[in-house]
Formats: sequence, C-alpha cells, structure tokens
Amino acid sequence: MAKILVTGGAGYIGSHTCVELLNAGHEVIVFDNLSNSSEESLNRVQQLTNKTLVFVQGDIRFEKELDQVFQEHKIDAVIHFAGLKAVGESQKIPLTYFDHNIAGSIQLMKSMEKAGVFTLVFSSSATVYGELNPSPYQEDMPLSLPNNNYGYTKLMIEQMLQKIALAEMRWSIALLRYFNPVGAHQSGQIGEDPQGTPNNLMPYVTQVAIGRREKLSIFGSDYPTADGTCERDFIHVVDLAKAHVLAVTNRLDQQGCRAWNIGTGIPISVLQIKETFEKVNRIVIPTEFVHRRVGDLAAFYADASRAKNELGWRPQYTLEDMLADSWNWQKQNPNGYKS
Ligand code: NAD
Ligand code: UD1
Repeated sequence: MAKILVTGGAGYIGSHTCVELLNAGHEVIVFDNLSNSSEESLNRVQQLTNKTLVFVQGDIRFEKELDQVFQEHKIDAVIHFAGLKAVGESQKIPLTYFDHNIAGSIQLMKSMEKAGVFTLVFSSSATVYGELNPSPYQEDMPLSLPNNNYGYTKLMIEQMLQKIALAEMRWSIALLRYFNPVGAHQSGQIGEDPQGTPNNLMPYVTQVAIGRREKLSIFGSDYPTADGTCERDFIHVVDLAKAHVLAVTNRLDQQGCRAWNIGTGIPISVLQIKETFEKVNRIVIPTEFVHRRVGDLAAFYADASRAKNELGWRPQYTLEDMLADSWNWQKQNPNGYKS
C-alpha cells in the first residue's frame, strides 16, 4: 500500500478518487487551495470510507508549501488534479491558466524531484487529440493544438511530462485522457459542485431539474450526427476514479510515460442525455435548441482498449446509472456543499 499525494483532491474527480484510494488501502494526503472546492467534500470522503486522510491547504505554484508536504510525509506517488478547467474563462484570462496549470505543474515536478518522488498520474483530457483526428481516438494518434487555452495547457503539460520521462529513467508517469466525466458517488454524498453558472452539460441539466435554472439550451441541432446534436463519451466519475487507482499501481511498478484513454467508447448525444435523464428520473427538463457553441466538435469518443488491456480497467456503470447518480447528488444537495 502506498502513501499518495493528491493535488486538487477536494474537487469533483479528486474527491471520488480519494474514496477509491482509501477503500483500496492507500494512505491519502490531499493538497488543495480550495479555489474551486470545499473542505466539506473531504469530510464526506472520510465519513463514506470510515477512514482518515490528511488535508493540507496550499497552492501548487508555491515551492515552500509543496516542499513542506514532501518533507512531512514520505510520499510514494502523486496524483495531480489541481488546476483550472473552464474553457471559456481560459480564453479571457490565459495567463492565469498558464500560471496555475503549467507553472503549477512545473513546480510540482520540481518539488517531487527534490524529494525523490518520481511516480505521477496526470489528469489530461481528450481535448489533446485536437480537431482533426477521427473517433474513436487512439492514444498513439498525433496530438494537435486544441482550440482553447485550457486545452493548450493540457497538451503542453503532457509534452513536458513525456520529455522529462524520456530524459530521466527514474520517472514513471501516467497521462489519463478523460472523456466526459459525469455522475456522482452512489451515496449522493459527494458530487460535482460548480461555482456560478455551470459550463458543462450535466450540472446544467441537474440544476434545471432542481429548479435553479429555467431551461436547458442545447447548443446546435444541425451537426452531422444521428439526431443532429453533439455526441460525447460520458464516463461515470466512479469508474474514472477507479482508473486512477489502477494507474498509480501500474506506475509504481514500471518506468516511462504512458497515455491511457479513460472513456466508455460509446458515443451518446446531448439529446439522448436529456431524454434518458427524463426517463430514468421521471422529470421533465424544459429545453430549447439554440445556435452552436463556438469551438464544439460534432462528435468524439474513445477507443478504451489500451486501458482495458494494460490496466485491467473496465467501466462498470451504465448511462442510466450516471444520470440517476447525478440527480441523486443534486437532489440531496440542492446547493452543493453549501446546503
Ligand atoms: P475541480 O475544479 O473540481 O478540481 C480541481 C481542484 O484543484 C479544485 O479542488 C481546486 O480548488 C484545486 N486547485 C485549482 N488550482 C489549484 C492550485 N493552483 N493549487 C492547488 N489546488 C488548486 O475539477 P475536476 O473536474 O475535479 O478536474 C480535475 C482535473 O481533471 C483538472 O485538472 C481538470 O482539468 C481535469 N479534467 C477534468 C475534466 C472534467 O470534465 N471535469 C475533463 C478532463 C480533464
Ligand atoms: C468541455 C471542453 C473540454 C473539457 C471538458 C471538461 C469545450 C469546447 N470543451 O468538453 O475541453 O475538457 O469540457 O471540462 O468547452 N451542451 C449543451 N448545453 C449546455 C452545455 C453543454 O448543449 O448547457 C453541449 C455542448 O455543446 C457539448 C456537450 O453538451 O456538445 C458536452 O458539453 P460539455 O459538458 O461542456 O463538455 P465538452 O464540450 O465535451
């Protein structure tokens, strides 16, 4: 069993990963500046697992704060979630995104190197495949510049990590390319808690369902897809969290840098999400069709066979589970962690 530092561990994917790490018997130290999360998520992680974790409030951009964590705890590996993730915001304040995501990741690697820790799992995104690759995306396809600054930071960090692992045999790095994480822990105790107006589809749908928003706007109905709305590869956050446990175990055992897609491989349309949510949860989602959102791709989904073959990872949750669990979380926490 390992001692794992989880940067950004109080956030949506991080908190679910902490549950799976603790359940698998690992020790967890969370390092998070709480800029987009609440410590309450970690209280709930501990209640759910009946185990304790260590929480350190700090910022990955700050050398002293990071170094202190590595000095105080004998860390074996790092799972790195910390960063900013709003695509629209990244177009308005690119420097802030470069600072938190790129400079923050560089500082983390420097502190790891200083402490002699060389095992890292990084939160990447399907956005690194850019706009030209056909789906299903495969890990060895050529990557290209995403059309937004958030995506650019993910590509930059991936490339830096690959170069570092190539130059120094001591490093062992996993690049997990997430598709579209949705859902929540089945207890409804932890889930996605976006601040302000949600940018992503699923929290928008649940906030309409709970009455916090009037209606869902579907961005575009004239895409070259089966029903004209965009198609994505939605993945249950608990399946995604489990992939991190497998990835960190794999990396503690091997050297080099390896990328894995974490998606189901099943394209689901935006309209299907709305209709299945209504059916599973017996709630009507008032909806309008509006113009396309700038920068959206018509469809993309994963070839997830590498994660199956090499990590033994298989998604277990269905689309119905994802939508029931998202709603269960929202219903129990109408105002997120503030309720
Ligand atoms: P989140 O915002 O819920 O979690 C990120 C956490 O990092 C938050 O708790 C935030 O407080 C913390 N943080 C931000 N900047 C920090 C800093 N400088 N120092 C310390 N902590 C900091 O987001 P999430 O959805 O859980 O995403 C986690 C990671 O996965 C992010 O890197 C994100 O880019 C990546 N990712 C997310 C998605 C998605 O759809 N949610 C898809 C692909 C990749
Ligand atoms: C977006 C980002 C991607 C990032 C990911 C996770 C863009 C272009 N891409 O992916 O880089 O990695 O989030 O943070 O922003 N939709 C609606 N109405 C809504 C919200 C969304 O119709 O109110 C549609 C979108 O047009 C899209 C689909 O739902 O077709 C999914 O959108 P979203 O949840 O934002 O994820 P992505 O765009 O796939």
